[in-house]
Amino acid sequence: MSAVQLLWMPLVLCVVHGGLSNGACVEVDSDTEAVVGQGFKLGCISCKMRGEVEASATVDWWFMAKGESEFSHIYSYADMVGMVNDERFLDRLDWMGSKNTFDLQDGSIYIVNVTLNDTGTYRCYFDRTLTFSYYEYRTNTTKYITINVAPKASRGMASILSEVMMYVSIIGLQLWLLVEMVYCYRKIAAAGEEALRESAAEYLAIASESKDNCTGVAVAE
Ligand SMILES: *[C@@H]1O[C@H](CO)[C@@H](O)[C@H](O)[C@H]1NC(C)=O
Ligand SMILES: *[C@@H]1O[C@H](CO)[C@@H](O)[C@H](O)[C@H]1NC(C)=O
Ligand SMILES: *[C@@H]1O[C@H](CO)[C@@H](O)[C@H](O)[C@H]1NC(C)=O
Repeated sequence: MSAVQLLWMPLVLCVVHGGLSNGACVEVDSDTEAVVGQGFKLGCISCKMRGEVEASATVDWWFMAKGESEFSHIYSYADMVGMVNDERFLDRLDWMGSKNTFDLQDGSIYIVNVTLNDTGTYRCYFDRTLTFSYYEYRTNTTKYITINVAPKASRGMASILSEVMMYVSIIGLQLWLLVEMVYCYRKIAAAGEEALRESAAEYLAIASESKDNCTGVAVAE
């Protein structure tokens, strides 16, 4: 692949991607782990079965808190206007779904400042009317999302463990290096002294030998 082709690649990918995201609707599951004090997106996507058919839809949300046994209506979105119907969520819900259209396929909402009391099950309901040439067809879709609310952001155990292991291995390696260095230094120093002592002894031996029989120098090597 030439350099010029490589330069074009991102552009081509961009165009392909843009084309897909305009047309294709994908029903992604919502996230389910919220954290106290942070925002949380309740995702709810309902794709039209017949993408080409004109349609309009309204979206409603219900909530059943953990421990409760009934859903209560908390939010409705129709004619591009959202309305909170439950005082627990007053000023805390924002529309995050399809914008500037009556033909909603994304009905997601956003909870501002999550509290532990938001723990529970949410029900998302799409009421859709498909408009054909001579008649209209009404369908509905319901999705349930159960969320957990964590007191504060918690990291996965694996991530914490691997960080600890990283520090342990870094410190361990350095200690090992240090020990090795000291050991080697002492070994070399000892070897040096030994060599000195040996050569001195040899010298003395030779000296005394040569004094005795005057043949020392030849024997020394
Ligand atoms: C979030 O809610 C808590 C308790 O309800 C409140 O004390 C805090 O001020 C809120 N924070 C924001 C940013 O609204
Ligand atoms: C949660 O609910 C309890 C009981 O209904 C209430 O007393 C408390 O104020 C609520 N907490 C928040 C942060 O809304
Ligand atoms: C949803 O659609 C089903 C048929 O698919 C119908 O029986 C039901 O009454 C509808 N629900 C509402 C609330 O309109």
